[in-house]
Amino acid sequence: MIIKINLNGTLKELLISPDDTLLDVLRKTGCLSVKKGCETSSCGVCTVLLDASPILSCSYLAAKADGHSIITVEGIAEQAREIGEFIAAQGADQCGFCLPSLIISTYYLKNTVGNPTLKDIKRVLQANLCRCSGYESQEAAVARYLGVKI
Ligand code: FES
Ligand code: FES
Repeated sequence: MIIKINLNGTLKELLISPDDTLLDVLRKTGCLSVKKGCETSSCGVCTVLLDASPILSCSYLAAKADGHSIITVEGIAEQAREIGEFIAAQGADQCGFCLPSLIISTYYLKNTVGNPTLKDIKRVLQANLCRCSGYESQEAAVARYLGVKI
């Protein structure tokens, strides 16, 4: 089957199988920032924005994305670099595997939620599990980036 999506601002027609996950389709399309972790909706590293809201692409059928817009780190390169460098400078990044999903979540908090509270940050970041740097340093870094007191 063919689906049409707006991927990072560009209209794409993609040939997919009905049982393909959005995660696999995005990676095949070259969006390698979207990581494959647990594939059971538990770790959050596959997070992308669908119509500006975060979803777990490992548990979302690509067929359901037909007609929708998707944003990955590749589509927000400038802001992604700024957010990533800020988080790294705060010492909240080690292997970097979870960083793209953290960047997408931070981008969502800044641009869609707007003026997020610490509660908003905790709610959004609870889906982002990190295997090496823990959680508090990341939460603190994102809060500082967004100008939220912790
Ligand atoms: S790979 Fe999607 S939640 Fe872990
Ligand atoms: S920094 Fe390694 S998984 Fe998060």
